Order: sequence, then C-alpha cells, then structure tokens
Amino acid sequence: MAKKSIFPLVALLTAIFIAGCGEVEDTRPGQPVKTRQTAFKEIIKTFEPMGVMLRQDRYDADKFLSMANDLIARRDAPWTHFGPDTNYPPTKATALLWQETERFERERVAFFAATDALLAAAQKKEKSAVDTAYKAVYETCQNCHKPFKAR
Ligand code: HEC
Repeated sequence: MAKKSIFPLVALLTAIFIAGCGEVEDTRPGQPVKTRQTAFKEIIKTFEPMGVMLRQDRYDADKFLSMANDLIARRDAPWTHFGPDTNYPPTKATALLWQETERFERERVAFFAATDALLAAAQKKEKSAVDTAYKAVYETCQNCHKPFKAR
C-alpha cells in the first residue's frame, strides 16, 4: 500500500522540479534549438577558462594557444541551427533576431574577426596583446547577446 502510493508523489515532485528549472524539451526533429544551445555551451567551456587564466594572472602561452585553437574549432557550430522557423521554446533568442537577421549576421562576423585576432595574439605569445584581444572577443559576445539573447 505505502509502496504503491509513493509513485504519484515522485512524479509530482519531478514535474515541479522540471517546471522550477524552466526546462522545456526541444521535441522538434533534429532539435535545432537544443543543438545550437549545446554549441554555445561548448564555446563557453573553452572561452571561460581562458578568461580565468588571464584574470588570475597565470598566463601560460602554450595552454592559452591550445584553448584559442579549441575556440576556433568550436565557433562554427551554432549558426546553421538558426534556420527560419526555429523560434520556439526553449530558445533564449529574442524576437528581434528573427527581424534583424542582417544585424545578427554582422555580429557573427565581428565575433569571427575578433577570434581570428585572438588566435593571432595567442600565436605571438604576448600577454598584453592576448589580454586586449580576449576582451575584444568578450565584447562581441556581449554585443550580440544584448539585442539577441533574452536571458
Ligand atoms: C552573433 C551572435 C552571438 C555571438 C557572437 C555569441 N552568442 Fe552566445 N548566444 C547567442 C544567441 C542568439 C543565443 C541563444 C540561443 C537560443 O537559445 O536559441 C546564445 C546563447 C548562448 C549561451 C547559452 C546556452 C544555453 O542555452 O544555456 C551561452 C553560454 C553563450 N551564448 C555564450 C557565448 C559566448 C561565450 C560567446 C563569445 C565567446 C557568444 N556566446 C557569442 C548569440 C551569440
């Protein structure tokens, strides 16, 4: 009797937990929203440690270069998954993105240029140049997120 009755409770708690996290599953074929979100998470997984290294003042030129190469390898992944008709939950993209697609593309190009410059600085292994180039890339993340990412 007691054993039976625990199942609805677990289901209910699970439902509350999922609702509380705001998790909506991407059920579309190919999961374009989830795929691009995962791609951005992969970008930040390499971009964040680069920032930590610089902020903690323990710049290691070889490690930094390796992370810069990782970032370049990951930067292509999100964009092809912003197809028309992919504005649906759980997206964090703003409505503006679907209206100002040329501006979105300009921000993407700026991000690519900034990451090219970051790689060049990393290859030269000059900390001050790397610092400046890292901040410039960070600006391009922000410049795109401000108009085009909701939260
Ligand atoms: C040209 C625009 C653009 C650039 C540049 C950009 N992003 Fe984003 N990013 C987005 C958009 C749009 C989303 C929301 C995608 C969605 O939810 O559909 C996003 C989502 C994310 C997410 C959230 C993923 C998730 O669902 O939790 C992270 C993390 C992220 N970006 C990190 C970065 C970092 C770090 C950079 C720079 C190194 C960067 N982005 C550069 C547009 C951009």
